[in-house]
Amino acid sequence: KMLAPVLSGLAGRHVLITSGPTHEPIDPVRYIANRSSGRQGHAIAAAFARAGARVTLVSGPVTIPDPAGVDVVHVESAREMLAAIDAALPADVAVMAAAVADWRMAEAQNGKIKKDGSGAVPALALVENPDILATVGRHATLRPRLVVGFAAETSNVVDNARAKLARKGADMILANDVSPERGVMGGDRNTIHLVSGEGVANWPTLSKTEVAERLVAEVARRLQPAK
Ligand code: CTP
Ligand code: CA
Repeated sequence: KMLAPVLSGLAGRHVLITSGPTHEPIDPVRYIANRSSGRQGHAIAAAFARAGARVTLVSGPVTIPDPAGVDVVHVESAREMLAAIDAALPADVAVMAAAVADWRMAEAQNGKIKKDGSGAVPALALVENPDILATVGRHATLRPRLVVGFAAETSNVVDNARAKLARKGADMILANDVSPERGVMGGDRNTIHLVSGEGVANWPTLSKTEVAERLVAEVARRLQPAK
């Protein structure tokens, strides 16, 4: 097969992947979450493992099983995810597929927030979470050779992805149209626009496994020394 010599370049490479949502605690019984299933990130981890890479998967809370042949670190919050990524560097390739919560509570409450009987509602003050992709993509000493991110967009998909590519120091962004008419987050297929320094490639609608395998082939090609 044509791909075999290219993919063999992944043998023994360390690939670092984030997947799933994060949960940001509000109080001991409540949290902020999102609809990510983790299936795309986990499929990518499995595909790199099948190609012979050493894979570290840092996963937020998901209901799907750990992929075979992958080292999995389970975390809950964005800050825990960043700490786990930091601890797992160095890597040759990073694929940041997690739907990291953009905000967390400015101060999570130690006790359960109670109604006071007056009908008053709590004001949840939020702060921005660290950007894990940007931290890896702009790492001063341990930047992986290839840094890949996703972009979940409902409009101006390619323009927004280009902006994220530049802002976060990524080599590739897999832009994903999550507008309701294209299928919601958590579905089993994805329509990807691959945005990179080489331009934009519009992939057909594919299963998450097919997206993962295309990404693995693309990464393997880009890791090849230029001929
Ligand atoms: N990402 C991350 N850490 C964050 C937020 C996002 O690592 N705190 C990563 C995601 O894993 C993804 C990429 O950044 O690879 C883009 O995520 P996205 O939510 O589309 O972009 P944001 O920068 O959060 O912008 P917005 O949600 O406002 O569109
Ligand atoms: Ca976001």
